[in-house]
Amino acid sequence: MDKLTFVLVCHFGLEKVLKSEVRKLGLEIVEVTDGEIKASGNLYDIPRLNFNLRTCERVLIELSAFKAVEPNELFENAKLCEIERFVPADGMFIIAKASQDRNSKFKSSMINQKTVKKAFSERLKKVYKTDFLPEEKGKYPFRIKYNKTIWSIRLDTTGDSLHKRGYRIKSGLAPIEETLASALIKLTDFNSDTVLIDPFCGSGTIPIETAMIASNIPPSLDRAFISETWDVIPKDAWKKARNEALENIRQDRLSMKNIKIFGFDIDENMIRIARENAKRADVEQLIHFEKCSVKDFWNLPCIKEIDSGIILTNPPYGERLEDKEKIIPIYKDLKKSYDYLKENKQSFNMHVITSYDNMAKIFGKESKNRKIYNGMIKTYLYSYLNI
Ligand SMILES: C[S@@+](CC[C@H](N)C(=O)[O-])C[C@H]1O[C@@H](n2cnc3c(N)ncnc32)[C@H](O)[C@@H]1O
Repeated sequence: MDKLTFVLVCHFGLEKVLKSEVRKLGLEIVEVTDGEIKASGNLYDIPRLNFNLRTCERVLIELSAFKAVEPNELFENAKLCEIERFVPADGMFIIAKASQDRNSKFKSSMINQKTVKKAFSERLKKVYKTDFLPEEKGKYPFRIKYNKTIWSIRLDTTGDSLHKRGYRIKSGLAPIEETLASALIKLTDFNSDTVLIDPFCGSGTIPIETAMIASNIPPSLDRAFISETWDVIPKDAWKKARNEALENIRQDRLSMKNIKIFGFDIDENMIRIARENAKRADVEQLIHFEKCSVKDFWNLPCIKEIDSGIILTNPPYGERLEDKEKIIPIYKDLKKSYDYLKENKQSFNMHVITSYDNMAKIFGKESKNRKIYNGMIKTYLYSYLNI
């Protein structure tokens, strides 16, 4: 079977986490760059990657890469790209995204999109010996990337971004993306038996992703993908990948009676939403959600009885100027609660993702920090280790 080069897109700063996920699926890593992993595989890997990757935003296939500094070179090279390997004579092909570069002749992303669309049309008409392309079957979205004079033509197999797992129908004002939550869990020392507490759980993303990781529930089995209708992917590939993912679910962990994952929030409404989301993700029995302020959760009976664990949380950032002062007491309360756990339990580590820039003033020096982009916001994951 033909070898394919996949481009797996992730948040900046999370490449290492995604790389280890891809390796676990048995694909060979070809290259790692900012926000992207290239790996080689075949058509059967399209459903496997889409169903199983927790920290990837999108699974693309790279079809060609070439140097072009003039629009005409973009057009001529795009015409050489063998898109008929995927797009049939009646396939609907769209240029979903094309880069632009203000310092070159490729200033307008719309014009770059049009150039490539025209090149593809000419190629397909020639290959399929027709004057008319009805574009009525399937959907083949291409993403055209420009980086330092090199253009790459990629075909998107995913459609809606992979952070849209399907379980989070409702959320608060600032939910964390599911893919990012998953990556944060993988950056901690979490294993399936660790106790994990999120005292600012909002719509429950961190506890829900934790429960899915602990029991090996594939993140994206219950959603649709743009490539599901493509004839080029063998029909049994989807079925095989689904069965493989289902077989890997840890039924023993799913039926475990003692709860080890906790989500608290001061807002009753968020707790209700978190419970609904957990139910949709089929992990409600693995998580204890309760309305509670960050200053009090250490004192709840369910926390009193545990002796070690991790706090992993995404507190309010205070992005707006008028909120900057308001969040200080919240961070101070988190510090007090963590200090109590540190002093009274065998071991407790804490990991906080935030853009708040005064962490050291409140918490003292962290054991380590990592820069991670949460959408457009530069954040850090501060880790306080007390093993
Ligand atoms: C950035 S949001 C968390 C979003 C969450 N990770 C999600 O994916 O939905 C911060 C949350 O902290 C909660 N919160 C604010 N002050 C709090 C306090 N003093 N104690 C507990 N929760 C608080 C808010 O209600 C909000 O849901």
